[in-house]
Amino acid sequence: MKNTSSLWWIRVPVIFFLIFGTMEYFIDSGDQPAIIAYPITQFFMLMVLILLIAIELILSSIETVMFQTLSEEAKERYLSSKSKKWEWTWGKRTYQKMLGSKPIEAEGEIVLDHNYDGIRELDNKLPPWWVYMFYASIVFAIIYMLRFHVFNDYDQALEYEQEVAAAQLEIEDYKKTAKGLVDVNTVELLVDTSDITAGEKIFQSNCVACHMADGGGGIGPNLTDDYWILGGGIKNVFHTISEGGRDGKGMIAWKQTLKPVEMAQVASYILTVINGKTAANPKAAEGDIWVDPNAPVNEIPEQVSDTTSVVMN
Ligand code: HEC
Repeated sequence: MKNTSSLWWIRVPVIFFLIFGTMEYFIDSGDQPAIIAYPITQFFMLMVLILLIAIELILSSIETVMFQTLSEEAKERYLSSKSKKWEWTWGKRTYQKMLGSKPIEAEGEIVLDHNYDGIRELDNKLPPWWVYMFYASIVFAIIYMLRFHVFNDYDQALEYEQEVAAAQLEIEDYKKTAKGLVDVNTVELLVDTSDITAGEKIFQSNCVACHMADGGGGIGPNLTDDYWILGGGIKNVFHTISEGGRDGKGMIAWKQTLKPVEMAQVASYILTVINGKTAANPKAAEGDIWVDPNAPVNEIPEQVSDTTSVVMN
């Protein structure tokens, strides 16, 4: 039997993409599509595809089997009914209805009985699509008025505040993951080995000329001790690197050369690796001992005088 009007090639993809769309809509997978975020869904969609094809195959074989049971005359009838050109009659009829226009042959029914130099007027009805939209807008207006002017559901100011608050949360979230966005206010000490090794590379290629490879100092101050001219701690060190030292001292602002994340990396390298190391040839301390104002205050234990201890100087 020749299956002239089978539409499986429309049905299968349409249903497939409907299921795919529904899946993407309902699975919350962040900013990645679910099909990438959760590889199991690829398997699921493959199963769906196989299932759809199987259903089509089963349906068409049922049709074939049923067809074989028909009498010759019924076969003829069946085939001719199937081969009729497929038309979307429902859609066409609805379209006509919504236009509400009379076919030209029927215009005689609605022509008005005046005639100006051969120009005549038709008493057409308002097109239903327009009338329905008009009714819908009335319904909308009533609901809107009750909701916002009688029951005061919410107003623009509240809506604005909610949206700003939501956006602020999103920005915070984004800043947490986007390292490239750090600035002096958000910079944190990086501890990942990858960041520290990256920081070391940056230090070796940009800073050793003045600070020495071990941070002992030369033209620039000693970075291994606890004394800081421009303040210690990640925020101050980041700020010094980014904006440079005092005028005329020789420490340029590195923000033109290094990316924010690179400055955070080299600052973290200085603070976690260089600082506290014993340099081969340390420069004398400059600046003040830096105490982290946010450090937890430890109770200083009472000094116990130990008479047996030997003071070595
Ligand atoms: C041309 C020499 C030179 C280079 C190159 C240089 N610095 Fe400096 N650096 C200095 C000088 C000089 C100072 C002291 C600035 C001041 O006294 O205001 C300084 C200060 C600093 C401080 C502050 C120290 C303190 O005691 O407060 C840090 C941190 C620092 N440099 C990091 C770096 C880093 C990181 C690099 C490489 C990206 C770098 N420097 C490259 C000369 C240099």
